[in-house]
Amino acid sequence: MARARWAVLILTIATLVGSGADWTRAEQKKDSCVECHAALEGSLAAPVEAMREDIHRARGFSCADCHGGDPSRDDPLESMDPKKGFLARPSPRAIPALCGRCHSDAEFMKRYNPALRVDQEREYFTSVHGKRLRAGDTRVATCTSCHGAHGIRPAHHPLSPVYSLRVAETCARCHADVAYMKGYRIPSDQYERYKRSVHARALYERQDLSAPTCNDCHGNHGAVPPGVASVAHVCGQCHVRQSTLFQASPHKAAFDVMRLAECVYCHGNHDVPSPTDEMIGTGEKSVCLSCHPPGDVGYQAAERMRAMLDELSRNLERAQAILDRAERAGMEVSRAKFELNEARDALTHARVLIHAFSVKELENVIRPGLEVAQRGYHAGERALAELNYRRKGLAVSLLFILFLAFLLYLKVREIEGTR
Ligand code: HEC
Ligand code: HEC
Ligand code: HEC
Ligand code: HEC
Ligand code: HEC
Ligand code: HEC
Ligand code: HEC
Ligand code: HEC
Ligand code: HEC
Repeated sequence: MARARWAVLILTIATLVGSGADWTRAEQKKDSCVECHAALEGSLAAPVEAMREDIHRARGFSCADCHGGDPSRDDPLESMDPKKGFLARPSPRAIPALCGRCHSDAEFMKRYNPALRVDQEREYFTSVHGKRLRAGDTRVATCTSCHGAHGIRPAHHPLSPVYSLRVAETCARCHADVAYMKGYRIPSDQYERYKRSVHARALYERQDLSAPTCNDCHGNHGAVPPGVASVAHVCGQCHVRQSTLFQASPHKAAFDVMRLAECVYCHGNHDVPSPTDEMIGTGEKSVCLSCHPPGDVGYQAAERMRAMLDELSRNLERAQAILDRAERAGMEVSRAKFELNEARDALTHARVLIHAFSVKELENVIRPGLEVAQRGYHAGERALAELNYRRKGLAVSLLFILFLAFLLYLKVREIEGTR
């Protein structure tokens, strides 16, 4: 009975099969799966269309390499015969092994791309996703949640769902879906917060691919929360200077004892904002006050460090303003303006050096910066004084010329009067 139904189906399909022909030609071998499915509709035909842009197809693989079955047979019953390993819908729990059959096989993968890693499946099972899948939770991400099943592209292809500029959306499909994540004890605001971070701005607005997205901090396949112990490590991969200073600072041991996430305590993890001088000191927005009450050594240090930053910025602004004024008045101050860059660099350096959490070390860069700024200011003052002097000189000569003109005028009148 079933056989008869299939026979009818084949007849109707046979006339439509032509559309799959260009596919098989590229392959140079019989592929009944593609021939037949190309002529079907909806979700049965969609994989054929999607596979046109698939890395596996480009390497000569086809449907049967994942689904099994026998692509040399036209009869669907023979072609999609479970006895020939045909698997209609791989279940989420079966997917890592399905992909891993090739991707975990170093010998096999070497033939195609010796540089490609072969630890995705192993890494995956160290992640929260993998561990939960093993325990029977099928709502977590498997290989196809992140890469798709049909139309898989190389990870660095701009249209791949795991490409730097797209991967956050891919994670957000689940992690930002409150209904989907209901029942888990984690928030679903990571994407929303990440999107307003200084990192997302660098990545999306300036296309700065060195700025981190989800997988840079969480790993590609080992997606786990970084955890207290490894957070400095995560941020330190890129922010090496701050991390090195922090490790040598009095906070290192203190944060370890309190089991606090190092950089994250002050900067946040997903919504890292653009830091300002307000973060330090004794003001409302200072991050120091939660641990350093008024009067303690840290409090005094915070106050002092902020005062130093303020003093340098103020002096820098003052010098810049007077030099600008002199320049607008036509005085030559380009050299003094150039030298001011040194003070600007000192300020930038000081903001990094904060992470040593030492008044003395900060002083060592602030002081030379202040001297440069003051020199700049004096250069501006001198330029304006000279300008003043020149203006006075000009006024005197102008008066003298007017006086001569007046004398000339009198003389002319006198001559005219004698006529
Ligand atoms: C002659 C046509 C024909 C051939 C050849 C054929 N299929 Fe199918 N395939 C179908 C039809 C029709 C269905 C839908 C059958 C159903 O739902 O009972 C289907 C269903 C499937 C499904 C989905 C099952 C599901 O539950 O949604 C997969 C996967 C599949 N085929 C893969 C293959 C692979 C792989 C091959 C080659 C080894 C192949 N097919 C060969 C016609 C064909
Ligand atoms: C790289 C492995 C791979 C290849 C190659 C592949 N599939 Fe699939 N296919 C899957 C997986 C895995 C699923 C299970 C659904 C999922 O995880 O998205 C699936 C699901 C399906 C389904 C069920 C409907 C759906 O979309 O959920 C159909 C039909 C199907 N595949 C047909 C095909 C056809 C036809 C080809 C060849 C043109 C093909 N597949 C090639 C891995 C593959
Ligand atoms: C949570 C999402 C996620 C899951 C689950 C996932 N991947 Fe990936 N995969 C990625 C990301 C992100 C990249 C790397 C993108 C990059 O390098 O910028 C990647 C890269 C890859 C690459 C390219 C080589 C490499 O390792 O960088 C392969 C191959 C790959 N994955 C296969 C798999 C397989 C097989 C599985 C299942 C065992 C899997 N992936 C599960 C997100 C995922
Ligand atoms: C039949 C073997 C085989 C199976 C099964 C298979 N792959 Fe692949 N995959 C390959 C080969 C070979 C390549 C091409 C490597 C190359 O040439 O760069 C590849 C490439 C990839 C890439 C691109 C790697 C890159 O360069 O960034 C991704 C991603 C990927 N596969 C994911 C998957 C996923 C997900 C599954 C399961 C749904 C899967 N593969 C199943 C053999 C396989
Ligand atoms: C198919 C849906 C899905 C996708 C896509 C997905 N995840 Fe998940 N993820 C989950 C679920 C469900 C959990 C389990 C929640 C839990 O741990 O309580 C989880 C857990 C996690 C955890 C562990 C959280 C914790 O503290 O337990 C991290 C980290 C994580 N995912 C990161 C990512 C990243 C990064 C991506 C994208 C590269 C991603 N996920 C893509 C569904 C998904
Ligand atoms: C700059 C690094 C960084 C980026 C980018 C990042 N995360 Fe996180 N993520 C962290 C840190 C750090 C934690 C907290 C770990 C801890 O406290 O143990 C965390 C925690 C998590 C958790 C656990 C639950 C929670 O909210 O604490 C999930 C889920 C998660 N991140 C998903 C994502 C997703 C999805 C993205 C992309 C939209 C992303 N992360 C981007 C660093 C990052
Ligand atoms: C993959 C590299 C990378 C990782 C990992 C990373 N960052 Fe960043 N971070 C960047 C880049 C790139 C910028 C943008 C710098 C710029 O504005 O030019 C940036 C900017 C910042 C800024 C603002 C700097 C400024 O001058 O405005 C802060 C603060 C920051 N990151 C903190 C963190 C913290 C905290 C972590 C860990 C939770 C972290 N970053 C992880 C690369 C990274
Ligand atoms: C999470 C709590 C916490 C935060 C936030 C914090 N500190 Fe501390 N800090 C400590 C602890 C604990 C010590 C060690 C106290 C000790 O050794 O007497 C310390 C020590 C210091 C010291 C060394 C004091 C000494 O005895 O030599 C300085 C300087 C310092 N902090 C400055 C700052 C500044 C500036 C900020 C804000 C940018 C800040 N701290 C934010 C907890 C914190
Ligand atoms: C105790 C609080 C605190 C901790 C812990 C902390 N920072 Fe900062 N960080 C600050 C403050 C305050 C500023 C603001 C400097 C300014 O603009 O005046 C800052 C500025 C920054 C900046 C931008 C300015 C610059 O160029 O340095 C980056 C990047 C940064 N921090 C990274 C990190 C990293 C990475 C870690 C972990 C190793 C870390 N921070 C740990 C307080 C902290």
